[in-house]
Amino acid sequence: MPLIARPRPGRKQLIVAIDTPDPAKAASLARHLSPEVGLLKLGLEFFVAAGPGAVRDVAGEMPVFLDLKLHDIPNTVAGAVRSACAVRPAMLTIHAAGGAAMVAAARRAAEEAGGEARPAILAVTVLTSLSAAMLAETGVSGGTSQQVLRLSRLALEAGADGLVCSPHEAALIRNAFGDRPMLVVPGVRPAGAEPGDQSRVATPADTIRAGADWIVLGRPITNAADPVAAARAVVAELAPLGDAP
Ligand code: C5P
Repeated sequence: MPLIARPRPGRKQLIVAIDTPDPAKAASLARHLSPEVGLLKLGLEFFVAAGPGAVRDVAGEMPVFLDLKLHDIPNTVAGAVRSACAVRPAMLTIHAAGGAAMVAAARRAAEEAGGEARPAILAVTVLTSLSAAMLAETGVSGGTSQQVLRLSRLALEAGADGLVCSPHEAALIRNAFGDRPMLVVPGVRPAGAEPGDQSRVATPADTIRAGADWIVLGRPITNAADPVAAARAVVAELAPLGDAP
């Protein structure tokens, strides 16, 4: 079992994406947001600029979702997962398109290197930046939903603990695979907010209702004049769906 468990309704369902190369900014956000939210998401921008030591520093403050979207031959991905376990992420992403052997290798490596505290292995299926036409250019015909379901099945059967998907795919995936997969969903905007460069967004409450276990918000919180207040406002939107945050 991964260390992280599906959260009860409330603040622990909120993941804040910190897309910055600056470790001081990440550390400050971690300090301020740790009492307010469930996890911080650190991605490639941060990892490449600041390195694993900076990830470890944030993980010392609060649980970290390390969004590296690993995709390589199984042996290489297994090595990267083992190395990533040293910084104690609660969640780690891989690309389902790397195939069943790669997903299985990632899961095994997480178990071997992470033990009881291993990260949840989450698979990414089709990047939401890909339109159906762009996907067809890569040789995938049949449309986005079909490919999302195909890769979701492959990843879950190979040992992924869950999936990262768009708000619009969450219900599709829940219907197809039931309660078991952990679902982490970015592309979320607070009710009434500007979508910015996100073209297909949903509100926090609608995303949780569609079957998400966790929602990911970045700029609406990190760019707010008061990130703590912005995080609290999102959690307040979730309050009618469950117990007290
Ligand atoms: O747009 P925002 O700042 O809320 O993005 C939060 C995080 O979610 C970013 O790290 C982004 O890469 C990721 N993401 C996304 N939209 C998707 C899939 C992932 O914004 N459809």
